[in-house]
Amino acid sequence: MSDAALHVMLVVGSLRQGSATRAVLLEGAAQLEAAGCTTDLLDLSTEPLPLYNPDTAHAAPRSAPLKARVDRADVFLLGSPDYHGSISSPLKNFLDHFWHEFAGRLFVTLVASHEKGLTATDQLRTVACQCYAWTLPYGLSFAEDTDVQDGRIANPKLAARLAMLVRDVRVYGSLLAQQRRADLAGIEPGFMARWRPRS
Ligand SMILES: Cc1cc2nc3c(=O)[nH]c(=O)nc-3n(C[C@H](O)[C@H](O)[C@H](O)COP(=O)(O)O)c2cc1C
Repeated sequence: MSDAALHVMLVVGSLRQGSATRAVLLEGAAQLEAAGCTTDLLDLSTEPLPLYNPDTAHAAPRSAPLKARVDRADVFLLGSPDYHGSISSPLKNFLDHFWHEFAGRLFVTLVASHEKGLTATDQLRTVACQCYAWTLPYGLSFAEDTDVQDGRIANPKLAARLAMLVRDVRVYGSLLAQQRRADLAGIEPGFMARWRPRS
């Protein structure tokens, strides 16, 4: 296995001050760092992206630095509020900016919802599938006020699930990152073959 630390990008898909999504992702980032991973928090409230326009997005000045950050990530922790059973528009807009970059990488879903966020979670899993990304076989869902209070996790069950998720991100994220790199460098006809640099 590579000695490089697993690099995790965490995307905050809520623009709300006092967001439960942000609070859980910040706690996740702290735990991932403590476990030896490196992290990059993209908070779309402080780093807003223009609405995705295929004609202009890839030439936009902000595009190259963000693409470099996305390219560096082995794992994406994607946090969204449940809005009408869907993911938030800022997170969808972020996802629309990339496709090629997500292939072979691991998506991990975290949804703030009053109703377990199953439909929003499924939408993130659909995006992963369309982009040839992996997903963990479960996600986290939590509710503001009951599970998260004053920017901190207040429910021990959520804290335990987050600890489980951080462990699984570290272990499965590392395995998938190692295999992704091997497949990019290899010659076998797996799905990553089409992402190999052309000579
Ligand atoms: C426009 C809007 C639509 C919402 N739709 C739903 C919904 O369909 N189901 C649900 O459980 N909660 C819904 N909520 C509640 C949010 O999911 C909940 O407040 C969540 O904690 C917000 O995430 P945040 O704290 O990270 O901002 C909605 C909230 C807003 C503002």
